[in-house]
Amino acid sequence: MSVEPSTLALDPESRLTRTPPPAIIVIFGASGDLTKRKLGPALFNLAHQRLLPPETAVVGFARTAMTDDKFRANIRAGIDAHSRVEVTDESVWDGFASRLRYMTGSFDDAAAFARLASLLDELDATLGTAGNHLYYLATAPEFFPLIATNLGGAGLAEERDGRFARIVVEKPFGTDLASARALNEHLRQTFQEQQVYRIDHYLGKETVQNLLVFRFGNAIFEPIWNRRYVDHVQITVSEEIGVERRGGYYDQNGALRDIVQNHLMQVLAVVAMEPPARFDARDVRDEKVKLLRAIRPFDTDSTEQWALRGQYTAGWVGGERAPAYRQEQGVEAASSTETYVALRLEIDNWRWAGTPFYLRTGKRLPRRATEVAIRFKPAPHLPFASTAVEEVDPNMLVLRIQPDEGASLTFVAKVPGPQIDLRPVNMDFAYGTSFLRSSPDAYERLLLDCLLGDATLFIRWDEVERAWEIMDPLVARWKDDDDGLALYDAGSWGPPEADALLAREGRTWRRL
Ligand code: BG6
Repeated sequence: MSVEPSTLALDPESRLTRTPPPAIIVIFGASGDLTKRKLGPALFNLAHQRLLPPETAVVGFARTAMTDDKFRANIRAGIDAHSRVEVTDESVWDGFASRLRYMTGSFDDAAAFARLASLLDELDATLGTAGNHLYYLATAPEFFPLIATNLGGAGLAEERDGRFARIVVEKPFGTDLASARALNEHLRQTFQEQQVYRIDHYLGKETVQNLLVFRFGNAIFEPIWNRRYVDHVQITVSEEIGVERRGGYYDQNGALRDIVQNHLMQVLAVVAMEPPARFDARDVRDEKVKLLRAIRPFDTDSTEQWALRGQYTAGWVGGERAPAYRQEQGVEAASSTETYVALRLEIDNWRWAGTPFYLRTGKRLPRRATEVAIRFKPAPHLPFASTAVEEVDPNMLVLRIQPDEGASLTFVAKVPGPQIDLRPVNMDFAYGTSFLRSSPDAYERLLLDCLLGDATLFIRWDEVERAWEIMDPLVARWKDDDDGLALYDAGSWGPPEADALLAREGRTWRRL
């Protein structure tokens, strides 16, 4: 049996107890927002739950000059502001903080990487981290190739004698098919595919993983999870926030690249894929790729029948005045970047042929809500008097990813009384009431999995490539082109034109 180098450090026992081997986590871009808001708190929470071996160390690396103590203070401030658990036991923080180090360095400076290699050697020897290294690229994407090359140049990418060297790459992975391929080829000059962990934080969400448990841990849903019973599926990622302080990044990318190509395609794959034989990295990702391959390519001659994009103008969100997208900081005054996308997709396979999947996402919508809604076909015949059934909607299963995590099934019930009168009612499951504990943040789960060498919830290259292949015609069509950009008021449910995608088939978007 061949063993992939990246899983060598993991014995079956540690996989079971989910305790990873000791390692050093190097965060590139450690002075940035992601480290402060997400990575620092996630690592601290893992330490707090005793899921990290006590030897685990974190080395921050970034251009901003900073002492170790200043780095510790920044991480602590991030934990105080954003962590799921508060620091209640200062000794846990003291232990964690004592193994936080910082190195000032430029990503293009080979000498800085040589110094990093010496520091890691020293820490491996003094802390007992056994040469296991995880490199987290929390930088702007233009630095990914440079950092990978310089890690290789400093001898830090090799996996030998049972040590691991893994690289975690944040999104966006490329901005179109060609740039994603170029980035991948570049990474592959230094790292093997099994060393590369491409993050999509949606897969780290408990509720997204629960989609798999819901489908494949219960026997009753799979038989109806197909074209015979499902009329259509709607997947929504609605955000109340605008572009916040990321106008510069967002204006270069837009909703298609920021959410659809990655988060929405991943949720779609999990909802629609075939059952994997095992919940492991190979089987789960094989099934997702098969599903992505079955998505019908867009017909760019009739884009308007498949896709719509919009941009928000000024309005009111949550009782506050919201500026137009074009007035946001870092955004071009005449920008045609989309902040809203609605798509109609078809999946050409036996399970789904003829069942449309509608996807939508937008910023500055009235509220934050991510969900998958499965609308079933109507009952073939209702034996009740027509007056009783006029209002009856077909069954709907809604899987709420966030907030208000849970699931609900709508079905009709008899209204108490002397005659048959039908009304829709809900059967509801809420995480909050069924499990009296908070869910780990997506980054906690993903960092732990990466340290364990479990890539099930990370994106394999062929998934990224296929998702770009699907999106590329739209990316090209929408590039620098105002044509067909529908405007919507901030605080509304998106451009009214998005309704037409469904209306021509006699359907409507679900009201959230
Ligand atoms: C990020 C996008 O990947 O996901 C952001 O870059 C978006 O624009 C965010 O706001 C949404 O994540 P979540 O976990 O809040 O749904």
